[in-house]
Amino acid sequence: MNREDLRHKFEGLFGAGGDIREYFSPGRVNLIGEHTDYNGGHVFPCALTIGTYGLARKREDTKIHFFSVNIQGGQPVEIDLSDISYKEAYGWANYPLGVIWALDKVKGLTLNAGFDMAIYGDIPNGSGLSSSASLEVLTGVIVRDLYGFDSLSNIDLALVGQYSENHFNGCNCGIMDQFAVAMGRKDAAIFLDCAALSYDYAPILLPDAKILITNSKVKHSLVDSAYNDRRNECARALEELQTELDIESLGELSEEEFASNADLIQDPVCRRRAKHAVYENQRTIRAVEALKAGRIEEFGQLMNASHVSLRDDYEVSCSEVDILVEEAWQVPGVIGSRITGGGFGGCTVSLVKNDAIDTFIEQVGAAYREKTGINAEFYVVEIGDGARRVALPN
Ligand code: GLA
Repeated sequence: MNREDLRHKFEGLFGAGGDIREYFSPGRVNLIGEHTDYNGGHVFPCALTIGTYGLARKREDTKIHFFSVNIQGGQPVEIDLSDISYKEAYGWANYPLGVIWALDKVKGLTLNAGFDMAIYGDIPNGSGLSSSASLEVLTGVIVRDLYGFDSLSNIDLALVGQYSENHFNGCNCGIMDQFAVAMGRKDAAIFLDCAALSYDYAPILLPDAKILITNSKVKHSLVDSAYNDRRNECARALEELQTELDIESLGELSEEEFASNADLIQDPVCRRRAKHAVYENQRTIRAVEALKAGRIEEFGQLMNASHVSLRDDYEVSCSEVDILVEEAWQVPGVIGSRITGGGFGGCTVSLVKNDAIDTFIEQVGAAYREKTGINAEFYVVEIGDGARRVALPN
């Protein structure tokens, strides 16, 4: 699929002519800081050059049409502005629709006419690289541009996207994904304090290494409910800590403060969840310091420690992903490797020296195939800019 094909498809479905505009919204990978966003901690994600491409044009009537080239044999979903509500039958279109709904709920912005939108995405589905946040922020950028909602900043679009996912699509996600997609910057990761929404860009210039994403191609069911369970367990732990401590989130605690108060948390499972949230936040702060000081090996060690904590204390990994990470650790030239994203399958992220990439793909791929029967997929990725109007490449 390229720009001409997408345009051809758009014109075939919705007619040629008029002001057809082009947009791009990236996927994201998180380098470190997992399950810390909704615990008031820090994250360190970056936007990718893979993502979701969109074409859109305003209409005269009150119809909205959403079409995805990625759905084999799919038809455009038609929705009237007078009836914006979640419907099972809309499938993927509930994501862009949720953003229209949330713009009204959060910002009081309503559309005075409909629009046509066609998308194409090259983020592997269900891989944990944020295809849904990419689509939400893409929709926000399109609507802002088509309707002249110029007061909306990219951070507003991230918050609107998160609100729509929480309240329209029913996943209680934090702010990391939408923020990374909306605010990404080429060759930099975003060091985001999720409690204050303050952030800083850290250049990721690795002269002799690359970011390598490995897709386990497994996605265990009940991901959303397991994710929401983790949130609830952390909330319970926080409540118990608050009986003695004057804190608003787990992100406010140092490791020492946590260790000396951990007994306040009755349930051992909740205690382990909270421990991960506290330690992972501190690890993320230290990892960014190490990276800024050029101590890349230390950054890698902290990525590995993040995986162990997500595997053992937070329990969001799975046997397939553990195999990928543990095999990666065996390859000389691997700086660090860990699960990335929400978990229960999806992808790992590894920092790998350039001259070790081929061996990594061969060795990890073969071991994974042997142990699981699955052919993993590997992507050497580049860090790109956040969502925007573009001239799509031909
Ligand atoms: C998902 C959520 C994010 C974040 C990660 C885990 O990607 O959407 O908000 O919580 O999981 O770090």
